[in-house]
Amino acid sequence: MKILVLGSGAREHAIILRLRSEQTDHEIYAAPGNAGIANDATLVDIDALDAAAVERFANDTGIDLVIIGPEAPLVAGVADVLRERGIPVFGPGRAAAQLEGSKAFAKRIMDEAGVPTGQAIHASTLAEVETALDKLGAPYVVKADGLAAGKGVIVTNDRDAAVDHARSYLPAGPVLIEEFLSGEEVSLFFLSDGDTVRALSPAQDFKRAHNNDEGPNTGGMGAYSPLPWLADQFGSVQAFVDEVTETVAVPVIRQLDSEGTPFIGLLYAGLIITEKGIRVIEFNARFGDPETQVVLPRLREDLSQLLLAAASGHLEDHEQPTFTDDAVITVVLASEGYPEAPQTGRHLDGLDHAAEVEGAWLVHAATGGPDAPGGALVATGGRVLNVVAQGTDFATARERAYTALERITLDGGHYRTDIAARVSS
Ligand code: AMP
Ligand code: GLY
Repeated sequence: MKILVLGSGAREHAIILRLRSEQTDHEIYAAPGNAGIANDATLVDIDALDAAAVERFANDTGIDLVIIGPEAPLVAGVADVLRERGIPVFGPGRAAAQLEGSKAFAKRIMDEAGVPTGQAIHASTLAEVETALDKLGAPYVVKADGLAAGKGVIVTNDRDAAVDHARSYLPAGPVLIEEFLSGEEVSLFFLSDGDTVRALSPAQDFKRAHNNDEGPNTGGMGAYSPLPWLADQFGSVQAFVDEVTETVAVPVIRQLDSEGTPFIGLLYAGLIITEKGIRVIEFNARFGDPETQVVLPRLREDLSQLLLAAASGHLEDHEQPTFTDDAVITVVLASEGYPEAPQTGRHLDGLDHAAEVEGAWLVHAATGGPDAPGGALVATGGRVLNVVAQGTDFATARERAYTALERITLDGGHYRTDIAARVSS
């Protein structure tokens, strides 16, 4: 199959590595990709947001499937243009992508579909913000409405900080003040062709910058899958997946379909397991990063076939995907100053040595160069790369991941050392 992957991060690299591991010999292109993806796909110098350029390339090259990695091209309507031209594309159109692009839209869909979520109040002025904060009480949760790369949310006991956060986003539109939900967080992905839904395996993401869930929210500093503790609470992991499929994914997909905006792509349910039951905290309209890095290595079926089936309306021909019991973890290496003010342009060394660790591999998030032969690879963003490691248990996977990380040098680079620590004893 000829496949074009749009995006330039670790999620896209993980998707490409999974496609590469299939028995079939795919021809894989990435636009724009990164220095690591360049080893596993042919880089194409087109802007993922430029629908006309993507369509031209896809037609000229005879692409069989376009996979849209990040949210920005989805919200910009790139999938609509491709679909109108008959190019199979995995990723929702602009309207359905509002599930991620607008938290207010997501709340409305959940209300209509009867999906369990926390109470939320829209506020357009500072006065409304303060009234809502006092109504819902501490801890305070304030969310910007639009896309904010995981940084638009503050969860704090400090009322002044909550007000300041709202103040900084209000000029761009209303903010959401939400009921604080307490419990374990789970990310669960669903493939959808607009009608049929197939669940992947749950993962847990580490959103805060530092160990023990301290520091600011980030795009995600690490993840692991599967989540063995779900079985203690729900009887089995499958029982949990079934419950979320029935109470969250299917109603949302039905609701979007009934509004004439079918969701074709990946529905990411960000969940909190509260004492009162499972609650949705957010939806994304694409694969999660870094959860994808730990879910896809466990997938038994061919990813290309599943995504093509979703893109072309044939998901019902595929059974529920199955997963290995391997323990997989990923740890993100971030630049100094991430998430507030990442320092970029610094050299990265030791990657080859790191990749030699048994059961470990590297997934690039923001790497560039080397521009000259013999030149160094440099960090080009906040989240630089992910070490992924697999083992028969989490202790082994952790040992492998952290051994590999110690072999990498990035001046000022930082990573969490507690990813999957609780499941490895
Ligand atoms: P979001 O961008 O909506 O996923 O929020 C980012 C992170 O903020 C989530 O992963 C949670 O850790 C936290 N968060 C968001 N909403 C809530 C909430 N209502 N209650 C508690 N924590 C939340
Ligand atoms: N890991 C969080 C996200 O992909 O949005």
